[in-house]
Amino acid sequence: MASFSILPFQLLLQLFGLAIFSVAVSGTTQREVKTYIVRVQRDSKPTVFPTHRNWYVSSLLGALYQDGDKTNGVVDDSMILHAYDTVFHGFSAQLTSAQAQKLQDMDAVLGVIPEQVRQLDTTRSPEFLGLKKSDSAGLLKESDYGSDLVIGVLDTGIWPERKSFDDRDLGPVPGRWKGACSPGRDFPASSCNRKLIGARYFSAGYEATNGKMNETKEYRSPRDADGHGTHTASIAAGRYVFPASTLGYARGVAAGMAPKARLAAYKVCWLSGCYDSDILAAFDAAVADGVDVISLSVGGVVVPYYLDAIAIGAFGAMDHGVFVSASAGNGGPGGLTVTNVAPWVTTVGAGTIDRDFPAEVKLGNGKIVPGMSVYGGPALAPHKLYPLVYAGSEGSDGYSSSLCLENSLNPAVVKGKIVLCDRGINSRAAKGEVVKKAGGIGMILANGVFDGEGLVADCHVLPATAVGAASGDEIRRYIDSMTKSKSVAEATITFRGTRLNVRPAPVVASFSARGPNPETPEILKPDIIAPGLNILAAWPDKVGPSGLLSDKRRTEFNILSGTSMACPHVSGLGALLKAAHPEWSPAAIRSALMTTAYTLDNRGTTMLDESTGNSSTVMDFGSGHVHPEKAMDPGLIYDLTTYDYVDFLCNSNYTLKNIQLITRKKNFDCRNAKRAGHIGNLNYPSLSAAFQQYGRHKMSTHFIRTVTNVGDPNSVYKAIVIPPAGAIVTVHPDTLAFRRVGQKLNFLVRVEVTEVKLSPGSSSLKSGSLVWSDGKHFVTSPIVVTMQQPL
Ligand SMILES: *[C@@H]1O[C@H](CO)[C@@H](O)[C@H](O)[C@H]1NC(C)=O
Ligand SMILES: *[C@@H]1O[C@H](CO)[C@@H](O)[C@H](O)[C@H]1NC(C)=O
Ligand SMILES: *[C@@H]1O[C@H](CO)[C@@H](O)[C@H](O)[C@H]1NC(C)=O
Repeated sequence: MASFSILPFQLLLQLFGLAIFSVAVSGTTQREVKTYIVRVQRDSKPTVFPTHRNWYVSSLLGALYQDGDKTNGVVDDSMILHAYDTVFHGFSAQLTSAQAQKLQDMDAVLGVIPEQVRQLDTTRSPEFLGLKKSDSAGLLKESDYGSDLVIGVLDTGIWPERKSFDDRDLGPVPGRWKGACSPGRDFPASSCNRKLIGARYFSAGYEATNGKMNETKEYRSPRDADGHGTHTASIAAGRYVFPASTLGYARGVAAGMAPKARLAAYKVCWLSGCYDSDILAAFDAAVADGVDVISLSVGGVVVPYYLDAIAIGAFGAMDHGVFVSASAGNGGPGGLTVTNVAPWVTTVGAGTIDRDFPAEVKLGNGKIVPGMSVYGGPALAPHKLYPLVYAGSEGSDGYSSSLCLENSLNPAVVKGKIVLCDRGINSRAAKGEVVKKAGGIGMILANGVFDGEGLVADCHVLPATAVGAASGDEIRRYIDSMTKSKSVAEATITFRGTRLNVRPAPVVASFSARGPNPETPEILKPDIIAPGLNILAAWPDKVGPSGLLSDKRRTEFNILSGTSMACPHVSGLGALLKAAHPEWSPAAIRSALMTTAYTLDNRGTTMLDESTGNSSTVMDFGSGHVHPEKAMDPGLIYDLTTYDYVDFLCNSNYTLKNIQLITRKKNFDCRNAKRAGHIGNLNYPSLSAAFQQYGRHKMSTHFIRTVTNVGDPNSVYKAIVIPPAGAIVTVHPDTLAFRRVGQKLNFLVRVEVTEVKLSPGSSSLKSGSLVWSDGKHFVTSPIVVTMQQPL
């Protein structure tokens, strides 16, 4: 088992996020305004105010200006960016830090949350086409399966004319649907149909911070000016489209995970990011509209749950029975990088699929270096080698030219040559554009040490390929040696098209964010991984496949990589599971996905980590890779209610006020929860023992769990334990005999760690598993033991 290193950077980020807050709310002379989200006690509204909104404006905000502080002019309704009433009670507004502090001190106010700006979790690696392998395709065909379910996608909007959003053969919109098709620029209300049944946009928070949007660059409507939202929506629930192919890359079928489910697009991401106040408004609207699933491929900095608008919105959604899946983030391969870690969210990392796009480099010395690309234009001349230069070895500004930043290359040096560029700062496709402008005829893009050997294919504007960090070193050494011997370095790139049945697969993508969970180490995150590398899905007409402004190519489909692409796979699966089991809670759906996930690749060995080529661990894949068919019939589930999460928050030692802020619950007593146990007793489908201290004695902990029978009425499950190295695991009882469906039985798992030798400041990770089996189902939970020896 590998050990993981604690990255102080992430911790710093966290502390930094908090520091900004406390400085901001305590500074009394601050004039600068920013957006805050204010949580009010809903029933504190005096009856004299006809509406909550009216109360917020006249009383709460009004009070801020009583001391003659009229900096922001008159107090009126326009100060409210959004009023929230379904998943959250309160409003957002632009305030000075002093005003935020004043509000925080009011009795009717439970908390004031400074807004975070989020970014999309795509690696921005567009390219053309390919064949999407959807495990559910055979299972579901074009039946009506899932057609009563609605998936809400909170993203950059949607391009409704795509074939993926066609409503052929779909029945009427589900009667309970309360959503709307909000019209706006280039988006008449008739843009929705029986497939895309709702579309809204939320820009008040974005525009409060950035000023009015530039409507030549983006649409003041649900229409997608970026591509990300169209792509993720079609992954979750795109219709079958034949053939989905251009430019010679793999022909095939494009289909979402739940092709008959309905879609509702909630546009919350704009040119400069996705603003919390808008995201929370979208959660509020989506839940009120009646979505069954929310898909959110957006990440930010991890902060305590009561300061995290996504965690708060997701809690309200879960409380209404909505399954929320979110991307884990692209901060991998370092440890502690996972985001969206609240235990009521399903957190999704990214893996590869068994298809790739080899494009290898041949050097003048005959050496072949593996690479990856979906460049689709004219190829280089066959059987010919071209002069090769390293961008960083030319010119005076070695750093910016090594990265092929804009105008950094000397045309006299690169003209007619293949240029080796290093990854970093500017987008991968943008580097190709720089090389092309300077007269280069090809590009090799070398990963940095941090990217390791993980390769993402891009739709470059010139013949180009991506190579790993070690390959980059090898090519640089070759160029150096040729330069020293006064010879010309040479190379060519060969594009091999699409390769299927790649082994091994899946592999955990380099960029996929990793555990441990920075907020709650007792809850293993990510929960699962799903396909997130080189994923084919719908693409708008507004943007070329490389994402570059200058790219005038237009495509029906595009290929992107990121945990952004993994998340909607799980959102679609969530809808299918809900269709099969309408009575399942969001936690039951997640349990089915997690306990049936697999950890072996198609060679039968533990999935590899793309960044190292070594075996990956539970910190990389959580419970494993989703297995759609098995998830339909998990046998047992680990269920959770809203009150279980309240107990969890009590045992996390959050204050009553903070817990109320998140949960909107009032009548709970943390003393009961604390008597009943500890944070590890949340009925989660994974078991994570995080020992912070190490003395000379044994350390032990226990987990109480409850499983619900959703398989055969009469079934007997036996516990099979594979203990983590150095740990003793006992399960009581070790046999569970069920008499009926829906029956719940409890058990206790004790984990004792016998011997550890860690040097101060280091940590270790060991994992094993607990499997409940009736001979037919294998209900599997990872058991994780992490230990940290303080300095
Ligand atoms: C809006 O964007 C266009 C295109 O980039 C630009 O020409 C124009 O000046 C911008 N308008 C404003 C008001 O910034
Ligand atoms: C990968 O495995 C090799 C060989 O077992 C080992 O030397 C190396 O340290 C491992 N790399 C990482 C990052 O764990
Ligand atoms: C909460 O506080 C109790 C009592 O001080 C402590 O034992 C427990 O470890 C704390 N839990 C967390 C999650 O910090």
